[in-house]
Order: sequence, then structure tokens, then C-alpha cells
Amino acid sequence: MKTKILIVDDEKSQRELLGGFLKKKGYETVVAGSAEEGLELFEKDCFNLAILDIKLPGMDGIQLVGCLKELDPDFPAILLTAFGTVESAVRGMKAGAYDYLTKPINLEELLEVITKALKHNELITENKLLKEQLREKYPGEILSESNAMQQVLDTMAKVAPTDVPVLIRGESGTGKELAARTIYALSTRKNEPFIAINCAAIPENLLESEMFGYEKGAFTGATGLKKGKIEIASSGTIFFDEIGDMPPGLQSKLLRFLQDGKFYRLGSTVELQSSARIIAATNQNLEKLISEKAFREDLYFRLKVITIEIPPLRLRKKDIMPLANFFLDKFSRKHHKDIDGFSPELRKFILNYSWPGNVRELENSIERAVVLTQTNLITMDNIGYTEGAGFEKPVTLEEVEKKHIEYVLNQTGWMLNEAADMLGIHRNTMRMKIEKYGLKRK
Ligand SMILES: Nc1ncnc2c1ncn2[C@@H]1O[C@H](COP(=O)(O)OP(=O)(O)OP(=O)(O)O)[C@@H](O)[C@H]1O
Ligand SMILES: [Mg+2]
Repeated sequence: MKTKILIVDDEKSQRELLGGFLKKKGYETVVAGSAEEGLELFEKDCFNLAILDIKLPGMDGIQLVGCLKELDPDFPAILLTAFGTVESAVRGMKAGAYDYLTKPINLEELLEVITKALKHNELITENKLLKEQLREKYPGEILSESNAMQQVLDTMAKVAPTDVPVLIRGESGTGKELAARTIYALSTRKNEPFIAINCAAIPENLLESEMFGYEKGAFTGATGLKKGKIEIASSGTIFFDEIGDMPPGLQSKLLRFLQDGKFYRLGSTVELQSSARIIAATNQNLEKLISEKAFREDLYFRLKVITIEIPPLRLRKKDIMPLANFFLDKFSRKHHKDIDGFSPELRKFILNYSWPGNVRELENSIERAVVLTQTNLITMDNIGYTEGAGFEKPVTLEEVEKKHIEYVLNQTGWMLNEAADMLGIHRNTMRMKIEKYGLKRK
């Protein structure tokens, strides 16, 4: 499709000159003798750029720029001014014109400005598109500056469009629920319901009826039919939070549902079908629960095909300050406070503290600090920790290093590249240290 240019000038000779010239240069042109006529054409047609004379009978070129910008905020317009009327050119630029040229028009210069304006507009459009794609890709506000979190997000984006179950693991407060919601938001089921069940918060018999529903009279108190969450989530997503706390009896029922999508309401012999997609999360050590017979191994195998492990905050230091700033901003707005930032001493603390409660702990302590601070700076006094808290007593540096490397290796399932990446060292250095400390996979 040819680039279409709207030319508005009340002088016929000028319109013809510009129109003829631009046509020869390969552009499609449409001319108008007044701003009103130009505006009418603009509303009916689709233009890439406009060249507007400022001095027009009736509405002038500057007002017209304003109108065009209202209809399309990014639309590029070039103004033509008579010699010696810089004042009006300035007003035109303020109204949103891309550039202006002084009459008599130098045609080569005009061509240059047109090319630049079109290029500029292309960039704006591309940028907007990219931003939109990004927003679609990672909705919500999952912050991820660290490589580790970037990888987690990438995996989430990859598994989201499929229907396979996902198991999300991570210490408490690392963002497991946020991850589940993000996977859902990225999935093709995003317009269907997202239904969460917290397996730790509900007693066993209630949990069962929450999951599968019941018929009238299924038990004392079942005064009417109730659909379970698996049924309600049918074409949507169901999130089993704290799956490690699901009682074994229910685990086998869930497993049966996972195998063929079939289930029964309590007190019913009619087999029902649901295509709900399962996302589960836990901060528990499922392998340990299995060895204690508290978690079914077959369910575990079914769930863990796609496992997303969210690393603890202390192992993704790059995320800490961005998250801290994000929460500072969020809570300053919520509590109507004008806060500039953290004191240097506090920044150091935030970065080095071990954050056993992870992002949730960081979030809570920043909200508390925002509420408590009397000045526009948050300091150690506001955050509610004493310096040195949360740090294990250092023994020798080597011991600390050994322990930390071992921890990171276990966290990454002994993926050397990933572990080296997290620690910010080279893979070879990693190998050397593993050898030096005699670390072994357990
Ligand atoms: N990467 C992140 N970016 C922004 N906010 C985050 C991020 N990770 C976690 N949060 C926020 O931290 C809080 C805790 O997250 P979430 O509830 O998802 O964690 P969780 O792992 O489910 O915790 P728990 O184990 O305590 O249930 C939430 O308010 C969440 O929005
Ligand atoms: Mg949670």
C-alpha cells in the first residue's frame, strides 16, 4: 500500500506543486483547500501524514493539527509557514505538529522531513506494539530483573498455552500464587474462571465437598445441590494451593480426576466430566512427605511433569531493590505519603538480609515502614529489624562459601550452568569449587 499524504492549502498553485511533486516521488496525495475540508477527508480516509498550511480561511492549520491529534495522537503533521512567522510555527509545534517548513518550500527539504516523520511514526507504532505484546505476555506485576526469575517467566510463558498440569514450588512468600495467576493470565483460558482452593485452610470433609460438590442429602446439612470447584472451573483453571496439605484420601480422588477428567459429586453415582486445568503449589518438601507416606507418589509423578521452582529472594539479589522500590511506590501511593527512598544504611540491609519470608516479608516490612516514617526517607528505624538480624553466624569464609554453593546447587537441582549463573561465577570456577569442597549430589 502506498503512503497517503493529505495536503491542505488554500492556494491552488501551491497544492498542485506539492501534490505533483510528491506523486512523482511515489506518494499518494489527496488535496483540500480548507481545514474543514481537510478534516472531513481525514475522518473518512486513512492517511499516513499531513502537510498543512498555517494560514487558511476559517479554521487555521494550527487548530487543524489540534483536531487531527485528538483523533490520532501519534499522527504526524508538517506545517508550512510564511517567511517571518516563527511565532505561529512555535504554536504549531506546541499543538503537536511534527515539524514546520518556511515558504517558499524547498522540496528536497520537504522530502527529508517527510521521510523522518514517517520513520518516527513507525517507531512509535512499533514501540506501542512491543509494549502491548509484553503486557500481554507478562500481565500482573511480576517483577523479574534476575536471570533466575527471567527463566521462570520464560517457562511460565511456554507452559501457559498448554493444558498440562503445572506444579509450582518455592519457599513461602516467593510468589507462587502470583505465578499461578500469571500462567492463567497467559493461557488461552484467560477468559474462563480461575478458581483457587487452599488445601491447608479447609478441613478434610469440607475440602472434599469444595472440590467435588454434593447432591442434596449427601450428608446431614446438605440441603441442596452444590457444585464443586472442579465442576465450576470446567473450561477454566483450578489452583490447588498448599497441595502438600491435601489429605491422602482426597489425593487419590484428585489423581483419578487428573487421569481422565472424570469425577462424582458427593452422594451421586452419576459420573461428571470437567476439563479444568490444574495448577498446584506447595512450599513443602513433597519427596519427604512421600517417604513419610503423607503424599501419594503416583499423584506426585502426575503433577510434577512441569515443575516451576521459584528461587528464594536471597538467591536473586538483582530482584531485591527493584521489588523494594516497587513496593515503596505502591504503598506511598496507598498511604498518601511522599517518600523519596531508602537511607543508604537501609539499602545495604535490604540487600544483605536473608528474607526468610521472601517477597511477602519484604512487601510487609516496606508497608510498615511507609506507614511509620515521619520523614520522606525510610531508615533502619522504620523497618523493624535490627542490624545483623537474619544473618547466620559466619564461621570461616570458606565454610560460608561451601554452604552457600551447596544450597544453590540443591535449589537448582544441580544444574551447574544455572547455579553458576545465580552465583555470578563461571561454570569452570563452579566445577573447581565443587571439587575443592567435595560437594556431592544427595
Ligand atoms: N516477582 C514479584 N513481583 C511483584 N510482586 C511479587 C513478586 N513475587 C511475589 N510478589 C508479591 O509478594 C506477595 C507474596 O506472593 P504470593 O502470595 O504469590 O506468594 P506465595 O509463594 O504464594 O506465598 P505463601 O507461600 O505465603 O502462600 C504477593 O503480594 C505478591 O503479589
Ligand atoms: Mg500462596
